[in-house]
Amino acid sequence: MKNCYNLSLDFMPLREDFTFPVSNLGKRVLHVYDKTVLSAPCKAWIRESGLKFQKLFIFEDPGIGNIRIVHIDGVENRSKKFAINWNIGNGKFIMEWFDVNPASTVITLDPDKHPYDVFNESDTILIESSASVGPVLFNTSSPHSVMNLDNNIRYGVTLRFFNELSWEESVIFLSKYIIEK
Ligand SMILES: [Fe+2]
Repeated sequence: MKNCYNLSLDFMPLREDFTFPVSNLGKRVLHVYDKTVLSAPCKAWIRESGLKFQKLFIFEDPGIGNIRIVHIDGVENRSKKFAINWNIGNGKFIMEWFDVNPASTVITLDPDKHPYDVFNESDTILIESSASVGPVLFNTSSPHSVMNLDNNIRYGVTLRFFNELSWEESVIFLSKYIIEK
């Protein structure tokens, strides 16, 4: 089973009048939104799919200078294993997944707000990568990183849901929207 699947969704997640944030902080910035920013077709699809919308995150990723951070997401509830992602902007980027040496030291960053477990990159082996702009079904529970390889802002737009599905269950749940198995 792969860690990333292209989805046949023909809408953009955000309303047409949405303005992307520009923080100019020279580092990645996480922005959190509720359902009011969703486009009408996105809301309709979520209803049709049986998913229960939780939040929309935007990772504002300024580009060159970013280092690879191999991590597992633990957003609010670690039982959620998947996300639906779009990469928006001019940046060249790469999404990567890794096998990690089980003896690797794990550091949990930001444990209260947006916890994620970070692995030592030297303990990792690259097993899969994708440069799809999306939408993709994305395994957030397997060690991964997304790097912007350009100096244009990449916006990582990611839908998160209340559904407590394992990665395998989420692939089955959304299988009719997956382009290549
Ligand atoms: Fe992540």
